[in-house]
Amino acid sequence: MLLRDAVPGDLEALVALERAALGDDAWSERLLGDALAAPGAAAYVVAVVDDAMVGYAALDLGPVAAGIGDLLRIAVDARQRRRGIATALLGDVVARATAGGAERLLLEVRADNASALAFYAAGGFEEIDRRRGYYRGTDAVVLQRSLG
Ligand SMILES: CC(C)(COP(=O)(O)OP(=O)(O)OC[C@H]1O[C@@H](n2cnc3c(N)ncnc32)[C@H](O)[C@@H]1OP(=O)(O)O)[C@@H](O)C(=O)NCCC(=O)NCCS
Repeated sequence: MLLRDAVPGDLEALVALERAALGDDAWSERLLGDALAAPGAAAYVVAVVDDAMVGYAALDLGPVAAGIGDLLRIAVDARQRRRGIATALLGDVVARATAGGAERLLLEVRADNASALAFYAAGGFEEIDRRRGYYRGTDAVVLQRSLG
């Protein structure tokens, strides 16, 4: 498996993976296209196996200077799960956030997303807050992990 920064040519695969993994909560093609065209605001890291994109992570770099890494997304192709791909992506994001001076990593996840909650718990995250009805009626769980 190879991890690398996303490039504009990744858009089609990224949109397909986002839709398959997040369904109604998927980001739009326009949002993803803008993000890939203007690297700097967020880091998009993709995982590649046999020349195919199998996962990606997005880290908002805006708050990093204030000591906070905001993990926007981690998603892995359903056929490639439980092989450590998201763990590798998380490790890359943690390294980037730490290098940028972040002391903690924050994220929000749907309260009914059992797989993601299990993944983040395994990755050392702890619940610090809940946002009622954040996802069109479903609560968001706010998770945090200390860095360094
Ligand atoms: C959550 C997600 C990213 C995990 O990806 P993954 O590559 O399968 O995760 P890993 O293989 O690195 O898993 C690491 C550990 O997390 C835990 N874990 C991951 N998925 C799990 C699941 N479905 N059930 C229970 N534990 C799980 C396990 O402890 C696992 O270690 P193990 O396989 O040795 O038991 C993946 O399920 C996914 O893409 N889901 C849809 C998108 C999503 O909901 N993203 C998060 C919100 S943005």
